[in-house]
Amino acid sequence: MDRNYWEKIAPDYNKEIFDVLKNDKKSIIRTAIIKRASPAKTVADIGCAVGKWLPVLAPAFKQVLALDISIENLAIAQRTYPQYTNVDYIRADMSAAKIKLQKCDLAVCINAILTDSVKKRDNFFKNYPASLRKVVTWYW
Ligand SMILES: C[S@@+](CC[C@H](N)C(=O)[O-])C[C@H]1O[C@@H](n2cnc3c(N)ncnc32)[C@H](O)[C@@H]1O
Repeated sequence: MDRNYWEKIAPDYNKEIFDVLKNDKKSIIRTAIIKRASPAKTVADIGCAVGKWLPVLAPAFKQVLALDISIENLAIAQRTYPQYTNVDYIRADMSAAKIKLQKCDLAVCINAILTDSVKKRDNFFKNYPASLRKVVTWYW
């Protein structure tokens, strides 16, 4: 699953890709996010795809950094949620050797580390703290 895969699947994203938010039936992920949210805080949504989590994140935080490797997914997210004016859309590859990101108070990364390449997964995990002001807790 490289960038090409995600660019190609973008128009059929809703048909093809598992919807974690819809299946968060007991609100486990939503509760964990809302517990840490504040209108004074910023959040990064890493691997945001078509922006399914934006309706949870944008109203609960000051600013959202919606990051994805796919420009097509980001364009769909931007078109779908014009009402969220506190979202910045950034195309970036978390599996790159090194990455420089705007630092946020919280970062969520939901169902996005899916590459079959060990090296790319490794880089993704190494780059994750680059999105955070301070690394306090990791959840797996
Ligand atoms: C299954 S979708 C998850 C979407 C979203 N987090 C959700 O739960 O609805 C995985 C997303 O991760 C993105 N992604 C995959 N590899 C990435 C990378 N190296 N850097 C940034 N985004 C990546 C893909 O483009 C895709 O949009």
